[in-house]
Amino acid sequence: MLLSKHLKGYEKDIVDVVLGVAEVSKTISRGFITRQGKTDTSNVYGEQQAAMDKWADELLINELGGSGLIRYLASEEQPELLEFESESDIALSVDPLDGSSLLGVNLAMGTIVGIHRGGVLKPGEEMVGAVYIIYGPLTVLVYSLGDGVHEFALNTDGDFILQKENMTIGSEKRMGPGAARNTYLPFHEEYISKLEADGYKIRFSGSFVADVHQILHKGGVFTYPGYQGSVRGKLRLLFECAPMGYIVTQAGGAVSDGYVDLLSIVPESISERVPVYIGGKREINLIMGLPK
Ligand code: AHG
Ligand code: MN
Ligand code: MN
Repeated sequence: MLLSKHLKGYEKDIVDVVLGVAEVSKTISRGFITRQGKTDTSNVYGEQQAAMDKWADELLINELGGSGLIRYLASEEQPELLEFESESDIALSVDPLDGSSLLGVNLAMGTIVGIHRGGVLKPGEEMVGAVYIIYGPLTVLVYSLGDGVHEFALNTDGDFILQKENMTIGSEKRMGPGAARNTYLPFHEEYISKLEADGYKIRFSGSFVADVHQILHKGGVFTYPGYQGSVRGKLRLLFECAPMGYIVTQAGGAVSDGYVDLLSIVPESISERVPVYIGGKREINLIMGLPK
């Protein structure tokens, strides 16, 4: 089944945005071979921008912002919220390319898009939906608009074809432990030790979106915790954690900052970082229940 057919029944403006993101992702998937370099600019997080980061960002801004389909766009690669002429109230929060440190080693990375109405400084539980694309051996697109999680793969005709419908998170013991162990805070050290004692195997690539995609399929937990030097951790609430948390929650998993449901957190700024634990309910209840 084609993505466009699977989307029938949802609100037209949302459908048009999801299909717009899908089209841009096809262009991004073809861009890696000629954009392997870095630029001399950095984003607001002080991270040097790869050529692919900036190109993917510009594509999404020009194609979606220029389409009249969206009113606002917040991007990991932009310091401010962007506003466009539009009748729509759709607002997107976007990580144009997540995992771009892997460009030189050809591991999977992706694009993450959160879909909101009326603005982006709202809790993830109020999102209309989320989409992510992974550029790997296959280019796959996963979306949820509040009625299950569905995965598509790009075929040789350039169409996204349904692979899995109403996905539910796996139950294997896998963990993606971000940050350096010698900077762990005591409660996080205890958490990781418990998982290791329980036989959890490590699955960590350096690409949040790809690592969470693996946890969604196989089960377990990905975490990028608060750590000595940054109690708020590294990953961004709006561009990474809330959209992926929305999808994993829709698949029967859960997401937390270690204390509360991450989807209940109201962002104070578009650049807010948050510690993240995302995966199966068992693994998320474990961290939330640990004394801190
Ligand atoms: P981005 O490429 O959008 O900056 O995101 C990179 C993030 C995330 O994808 C990954 O899990 C994390 O950075 C890895 O951080 P370390 O390099 O500190 O392990
Ligand atoms: Mn990212
Ligand atoms: Mn990024």
